[in-house]
Amino acid sequence: MDKVIKMDNIYKNYKLGQVNVEALKGINLEVEKGEFISIMGPSGSGKSTLLNLIGCLDKPTKGLYELDGNRVEKLNDYQLSEIRNNFLGFVFQSFNLLSSLNAIKNVEIPLIYRGIRKKVRKELCKEALEVVGLGDRMHHLPNQLSGGQQQRVAIARAIVGKPAVILADEPTGALDSKTGNDIMDIFQKLNKENNMTIVQVTHEEDIAKIGNRIIRLIDGYIQ
Ligand SMILES: Nc1ncnc2c1ncn2[C@@H]1O[C@H](COP(=O)(O)OP(=O)(O)O)[C@@H](O)[C@H]1O
Ligand SMILES: [Mg+2]
Repeated sequence: MDKVIKMDNIYKNYKLGQVNVEALKGINLEVEKGEFISIMGPSGSGKSTLLNLIGCLDKPTKGLYELDGNRVEKLNDYQLSEIRNNFLGFVFQSFNLLSSLNAIKNVEIPLIYRGIRKKVRKELCKEALEVVGLGDRMHHLPNQLSGGQQQRVAIARAIVGKPAVILADEPTGALDSKTGNDIMDIFQKLNKENNMTIVQVTHEEDIAKIGNRIIRLIDGYIQ
Protein backbone atom coordinates (compact mmCIF):
# COMPACT_ATOMS: atom_id res chain seq x y z
CA MET A 1 0.00 0.00 0.00
CA ASP A 2 1.00 3.58 -0.66
CA LYS A 3 1.79 5.35 2.61
CA VAL A 4 1.55 9.12 2.45
CA ILE A 5 2.09 9.85 6.15
CA LYS A 6 4.19 7.78 8.51
CA MET A 7 4.87 8.97 12.06
CA ASP A 8 6.96 6.92 14.43
CA ASN A 9 7.03 7.84 18.13
CA ILE A 10 6.57 11.58 17.59
CA TYR A 11 6.94 14.01 20.50
CA LYS A 12 6.32 17.73 20.51
CA ASN A 13 7.30 19.96 23.42
CA TYR A 14 6.68 23.67 23.63
CA LYS A 15 8.96 25.71 25.88
CA LEU A 16 7.43 28.84 27.35
CA GLY A 17 9.95 30.39 29.72
CA GLN A 18 10.42 27.82 32.51
CA VAL A 19 7.33 25.87 31.52
CA ASN A 20 7.65 22.85 29.26
CA VAL A 21 4.39 21.71 27.65
CA GLU A 22 4.40 18.17 26.29
CA ALA A 23 1.77 18.55 23.58
CA LEU A 24 2.38 15.18 21.86
CA LYS A 25 3.78 12.13 23.66
CA GLY A 26 4.73 9.34 21.31
CA ILE A 27 2.38 9.46 18.33
CA ASN A 28 2.39 6.55 15.89
CA LEU A 29 0.32 7.23 12.80
CA GLU A 30 0.16 5.84 9.29
CA VAL A 31 -2.09 7.19 6.58
CA GLU A 32 -2.54 5.50 3.21
CA LYS A 33 -3.11 7.37 0.00
CA GLY A 34 -6.81 8.04 -0.51
CA GLU A 35 -7.82 7.81 3.15
CA PHE A 36 -10.14 10.37 4.76
CA ILE A 37 -9.20 10.71 8.42
CA SER A 38 -10.76 12.70 11.25
CA ILE A 39 -8.77 13.64 14.33
CA MET A 40 -10.93 14.20 17.40
CA GLY A 41 -10.23 15.03 21.02
CA PRO A 42 -10.88 17.58 23.73
CA SER A 43 -9.52 21.11 23.58
CA GLY A 44 -5.79 21.11 24.33
CA SER A 45 -5.30 17.43 23.49
CA GLY A 46 -2.81 18.23 20.72
CA LYS A 47 -4.96 18.10 17.57
CA SER A 48 -3.68 21.32 16.00
CA THR A 49 -0.12 20.51 17.04
CA LEU A 50 -0.39 17.15 15.27
CA LEU A 51 -1.92 18.70 12.14
CA ASN A 52 0.79 21.39 12.05
CA LEU A 53 3.48 18.71 12.23
CA ILE A 54 1.79 16.70 9.48
CA GLY A 55 1.71 19.91 7.41
CA CYS A 56 5.40 20.66 7.99
CA LEU A 57 4.46 23.98 9.57
CA ASP A 58 6.47 22.90 12.61
CA LYS A 59 8.99 20.16 13.40
CA PRO A 60 8.71 17.40 15.99
CA THR A 61 10.92 17.56 19.08
CA LYS A 62 11.64 13.86 18.70
CA GLY A 63 10.61 10.97 16.46
CA LEU A 64 10.53 10.07 12.79
CA TYR A 65 8.19 11.60 10.26
CA GLU A 66 8.01 10.54 6.63
CA LEU A 67 5.78 12.47 4.26
CA ASP A 68 5.45 10.95 0.78
CA GLY A 69 8.65 9.02 1.44
CA ASN A 70 10.63 12.13 2.54
CA ARG A 71 12.23 12.19 5.98
CA VAL A 72 10.93 15.58 7.07
CA GLU A 73 13.64 16.30 9.67
CA LYS A 74 16.24 16.12 6.88
CA LEU A 75 14.58 18.75 4.71
CA ASN A 76 15.78 22.36 4.74
CA ASP A 77 13.42 25.34 4.87
CA TYR A 78 13.33 25.66 1.09
CA GLN A 79 12.47 21.98 0.62
CA LEU A 80 9.82 22.24 3.32
CA SER A 81 8.12 25.16 1.62
CA GLU A 82 8.30 23.28 -1.70
CA ILE A 83 6.58 20.24 -0.24
CA ARG A 84 3.95 22.44 1.47
CA ASN A 85 3.28 24.23 -1.81
CA ASN A 86 3.19 21.25 -4.13
CA PHE A 87 1.98 18.34 -2.06
CA LEU A 88 -0.32 19.83 0.59
CA GLY A 89 -3.41 22.02 0.69
CA PHE A 90 -4.47 23.77 3.90
CA VAL A 91 -7.95 24.72 5.13
CA PHE A 92 -8.50 26.55 8.43
CA GLN A 93 -11.47 27.24 10.70
CA SER A 94 -11.24 30.99 10.08
CA PHE A 95 -10.91 30.71 6.26
CA ASN A 96 -7.78 32.96 6.23
CA LEU A 97 -8.72 34.76 3.02
CA LEU A 98 -7.14 38.09 2.11
CA SER A 99 -9.98 40.59 2.53
CA SER A 100 -8.81 42.97 -0.21
CA LEU A 101 -8.69 40.29 -2.92
CA ASN A 102 -11.70 38.81 -4.71
CA ALA A 103 -12.34 35.07 -4.82
CA ILE A 104 -10.34 34.30 -7.95
CA LYS A 105 -7.34 36.37 -6.75
CA ASN A 106 -7.35 34.57 -3.39
CA VAL A 107 -7.38 31.21 -5.15
CA GLU A 108 -4.55 32.33 -7.42
CA ILE A 109 -2.01 32.93 -4.62
CA PRO A 110 -0.46 29.44 -4.41
CA LEU A 111 -0.06 29.35 -8.19
CA ILE A 112 1.82 32.66 -8.19
CA TYR A 113 4.26 31.11 -5.68
CA ARG A 114 4.70 28.21 -8.07
CA GLY A 115 5.57 30.50 -10.96
CA ILE A 116 2.71 29.38 -13.19
CA ARG A 117 1.84 31.59 -16.20
CA LYS A 118 -1.04 34.01 -15.83
CA LYS A 119 -3.26 32.46 -18.49
CA VAL A 120 -2.88 28.98 -17.01
CA ARG A 121 -3.45 30.39 -13.52
CA LYS A 122 -6.80 31.85 -14.55
CA GLU A 123 -7.92 28.55 -16.06
CA LEU A 124 -6.93 26.54 -12.97
CA CYS A 125 -8.61 29.05 -10.63
CA LYS A 126 -11.86 28.95 -12.58
CA GLU A 127 -11.78 25.17 -12.54
CA ALA A 128 -11.19 25.06 -8.77
CA LEU A 129 -13.96 27.56 -8.05
CA GLU A 130 -16.33 25.53 -10.22
CA VAL A 131 -15.45 22.35 -8.29
CA VAL A 132 -16.60 24.06 -5.08
CA GLY A 133 -19.72 25.46 -6.76
CA LEU A 134 -18.63 29.10 -6.89
CA GLY A 135 -18.28 29.57 -10.62
CA ASP A 136 -20.68 32.51 -10.32
CA ARG A 137 -18.91 34.25 -7.44
CA MET A 138 -15.40 34.63 -8.82
CA HIS A 139 -15.27 38.42 -8.54
CA HIS A 140 -16.83 38.73 -5.10
CA LEU A 141 -14.75 39.98 -2.18
CA PRO A 142 -14.72 37.84 1.00
CA ASN A 143 -17.06 40.25 2.83
CA GLN A 144 -19.56 39.88 -0.02
CA LEU A 145 -19.73 36.12 0.56
CA SER A 146 -21.39 34.01 3.27
CA GLY A 147 -19.23 32.04 5.71
CA GLY A 148 -19.85 28.81 3.81
CA GLN A 149 -18.95 30.48 0.52
CA GLN A 150 -15.77 31.92 2.05
CA GLN A 151 -14.79 28.46 3.23
CA ARG A 152 -15.43 27.15 -0.28
CA VAL A 153 -13.08 29.82 -1.68
CA ALA A 154 -10.50 28.65 0.87
CA ILE A 155 -10.99 25.05 -0.32
CA ALA A 156 -10.60 26.16 -3.94
CA ARG A 157 -7.33 27.85 -2.92
CA ALA A 158 -6.23 24.63 -1.18
CA ILE A 159 -6.96 22.41 -4.20
CA VAL A 160 -6.02 24.70 -7.09
CA GLY A 161 -2.52 23.24 -7.27
CA LYS A 162 -3.92 19.70 -7.20
CA PRO A 163 -2.26 18.62 -3.94
CA ALA A 164 -2.18 14.96 -2.91
CA VAL A 165 -3.24 15.76 0.66
CA ILE A 166 -5.68 18.23 2.20
CA LEU A 167 -5.16 19.20 5.84
CA ALA A 168 -8.09 20.93 7.51
CA ASP A 169 -8.20 22.26 11.10
CA GLU A 170 -11.84 22.54 12.23
CA PRO A 171 -13.04 23.38 8.70
CA THR A 172 -16.68 23.51 9.81
CA GLY A 173 -16.02 25.03 13.25
CA ALA A 174 -17.28 28.48 12.25
CA LEU A 175 -20.27 27.26 10.22
CA ASP A 176 -23.82 26.15 10.98
CA SER A 177 -24.50 22.44 10.58
CA LYS A 178 -26.19 22.64 7.16
CA THR A 179 -23.30 24.67 5.73
CA GLY A 180 -20.82 22.37 7.46
CA ASN A 181 -22.43 19.39 5.74
CA ASP A 182 -22.08 21.14 2.37
CA ILE A 183 -18.35 21.51 3.06
CA MET A 184 -18.17 17.78 3.93
CA ASP A 185 -19.91 16.96 0.62
CA ILE A 186 -17.09 18.78 -1.17
CA PHE A 187 -14.44 16.94 0.86
CA GLN A 188 -16.11 13.62 0.08
CA LYS A 189 -16.17 14.42 -3.62
CA LEU A 190 -12.48 15.40 -3.60
CA ASN A 191 -11.68 12.22 -1.72
CA LYS A 192 -13.73 9.85 -3.88
CA GLU A 193 -13.40 11.41 -7.34
CA ASN A 194 -9.90 12.91 -7.15
CA ASN A 195 -8.45 10.40 -4.69
CA MET A 196 -7.19 13.21 -2.48
CA THR A 197 -6.08 12.13 0.97
CA ILE A 198 -7.83 14.18 3.64
CA VAL A 199 -6.86 14.69 7.27
CA GLN A 200 -9.24 16.90 9.20
CA VAL A 201 -9.53 17.97 12.82
CA THR A 202 -13.02 18.28 14.24
CA HIS A 203 -14.81 18.10 17.58
CA GLU A 204 -18.15 17.20 15.96
CA GLU A 205 -18.93 13.45 15.84
CA ASP A 206 -21.25 13.88 12.82
CA ILE A 207 -18.50 15.59 10.85
CA ALA A 208 -15.87 13.06 11.95
CA LYS A 209 -18.05 10.15 10.78
CA ILE A 210 -17.86 11.40 7.18
CA GLY A 211 -14.29 10.11 6.99
CA ASN A 212 -13.27 6.47 6.89
CA ARG A 213 -11.27 6.49 10.15
CA ILE A 214 -11.37 8.43 13.41
CA ILE A 215 -8.27 9.05 15.52
CA ARG A 216 -8.90 10.13 19.10
CA LEU A 217 -6.32 12.19 20.93
CA ILE A 218 -6.29 12.53 24.70
CA ASP A 219 -3.65 14.59 26.43
CA GLY A 220 -1.07 14.12 23.67
CA TYR A 221 -1.66 10.38 23.19
CA ILE A 222 -3.66 8.48 20.59
CA GLN A 223 -6.35 6.56 22.44
N1 LIG B 1 2.84 27.66 20.40
C1 LIG B 1 2.62 27.09 21.58
N2 LIG B 1 3.40 27.38 22.65
C2 LIG B 1 3.21 26.79 23.84
N3 LIG B 1 2.25 25.88 24.08
C3 LIG B 1 1.45 25.54 23.05
C4 LIG B 1 1.58 26.13 21.76
N4 LIG B 1 0.63 25.60 20.95
C5 LIG B 1 -0.05 24.71 21.69
N5 LIG B 1 0.42 24.68 22.96
C6 LIG B 1 -0.06 23.80 24.05
O1 LIG B 1 -0.02 22.47 23.58
C7 LIG B 1 -1.18 21.73 23.97
C8 LIG B 1 -1.92 21.23 22.73
O2 LIG B 1 -2.44 22.34 22.01
P1 LIG B 1 -3.21 22.19 20.63
O3 LIG B 1 -2.46 21.31 19.73
O4 LIG B 1 -3.51 23.57 20.13
O5 LIG B 1 -4.56 21.47 21.09
P2 LIG B 1 -5.98 21.31 20.36
O6 LIG B 1 -5.84 21.74 18.95
O7 LIG B 1 -6.32 19.87 20.53
O8 LIG B 1 -6.93 22.17 21.12
C9 LIG B 1 -2.00 22.70 24.82
O9 LIG B 1 -1.69 22.44 26.16
C10 LIG B 1 -1.52 24.06 24.40
O10 LIG B 1 -1.65 24.98 25.44
MG1 LIG C 1 -6.84 23.22 17.80
